Amino acid sequence: MNAQFLPEPVALPRDRLSRPLRDLRLSVIDACNFRCPYCMPEDRVADGHGLDSASRMDFDEIEALVRGFVRLGVRKLRLTGGEPLLRRRLPELIARLAAIEGIDDLALTTNGSLLGTHAAALRVAGLRRLTVSIDALSPAVFRRLSGGRGDVGDVLAGIDAAQAAGFGSIKLNCVVQRGINDGEVLPLVEKFRGSGHVLRFIEYMDVGSCNGWLREHVVPSSELRERIHAAWPLRALDANYTGEVAARHAFVDGAGEIGFVSSISAPFCGDCHRARVSADGRLYTCLFAGQGSDLRGALHAGPDALEGRIAGLWSGRADRYSELRGRAPATTDGRSRRHVEMFLIGG
Ligand code: GTP
Ligand code: 5AD
Ligand code: SF4
Ligand code: SF4
Repeated sequence: MNAQFLPEPVALPRDRLSRPLRDLRLSVIDACNFRCPYCMPEDRVADGHGLDSASRMDFDEIEALVRGFVRLGVRKLRLTGGEPLLRRRLPELIARLAAIEGIDDLALTTNGSLLGTHAAALRVAGLRRLTVSIDALSPAVFRRLSGGRGDVGDVLAGIDAAQAAGFGSIKLNCVVQRGINDGEVLPLVEKFRGSGHVLRFIEYMDVGSCNGWLREHVVPSSELRERIHAAWPLRALDANYTGEVAARHAFVDGAGEIGFVSSISAPFCGDCHRARVSADGRLYTCLFAGQGSDLRGALHAGPDALEGRIAGLWSGRADRYSELRGRAPATTDGRSRRHVEMFLIGG
């Protein structure tokens, strides 16, 4: 082809800290069947809460949006919620997204309660990787941590069903809160070491505005690592890729690996190339953003408008909340800054 007729290469945006746009985390629904106290406390978020289906992007909109992000450099797509498996016809959406050239990694984060029913269909549709949240093994603690809605047996059965459906090395996320579920850490390690799955312990974060976060509730990863190391010696591993959120460690005896996500004790904003989009099509440039920016208007105006809008918003991004945490003074009315709710952008 004559060089004159080659399409114009799209300039890949960098934000104000020179970070490229690589990952998109897209919420497909803001509803959830759990009420985890750190995310959607049941006394604050009513049953039946959620966007009506007209406010949610439909599959055509989602596909066009993802294509726009891919043209701007996104290679990794993670579907989130709320609980994404509550979105009707999700496998149909996954099949459409899996077919987009340029997406090298397609993953989904779920609470696992409905995986037993859906794992096989997700796999057939083209989903490649799964992350399942599991904060406790004890049925009573798990139930409390799901706001009285979840059954750990369903989640364990869901993990097994996912493995049987062909998902290998599932990531298992446990948010640790001191005095609430830190007693679950060693039982979880014992259960999953040697399973081929990768358990990750996440420092409890001050996300959202309704979980009453206190620093005393955070268990620093260093403390957990020492506790686990005393029972099953660990050695540090290199990151799989630049900007990997979890610090990887292997069991010295060869029983696989675990990870620690230390947003409080060791923030990782410097390499943060994650954009988040809510189910109603708003872009959040940080997990702790106060507000999102509408993308739907631009989406409906066509691909150029969409790319211009995303690139413009990304170029203006200077977020590094975790690195600045604690430094910023409280607002004048004495309350700390407001953050987007986690269930709108899925973590
Ligand atoms: P992989 O692609 O498998 O490496 O997944 P990941 O570790 O990037 O994604 P996952 O959603 O499992 O991240 C684990 C947890 O880390 C999330 O649930 C959040 O609690 C936290 N986390 C992920 N991304 C960010 C981020 O950009 N900032 C902060 N502060 N925390 C994050
Ligand atoms: N702190 C840390 N992680 C959180 N998540 C939700 N709320 C919090 C919080 N306050 C993460 C968990 C969960 C995912 C959906 O979001 O990892 O598995
Ligand atoms: Fe639902 Fe996940 Fe929030 Fe728990 S953390 S309420 S499972 S969206
Ligand atoms: Fe990225 Fe914001 Fe998390 Fe920092 S706090 S890593 S900028 S999402």
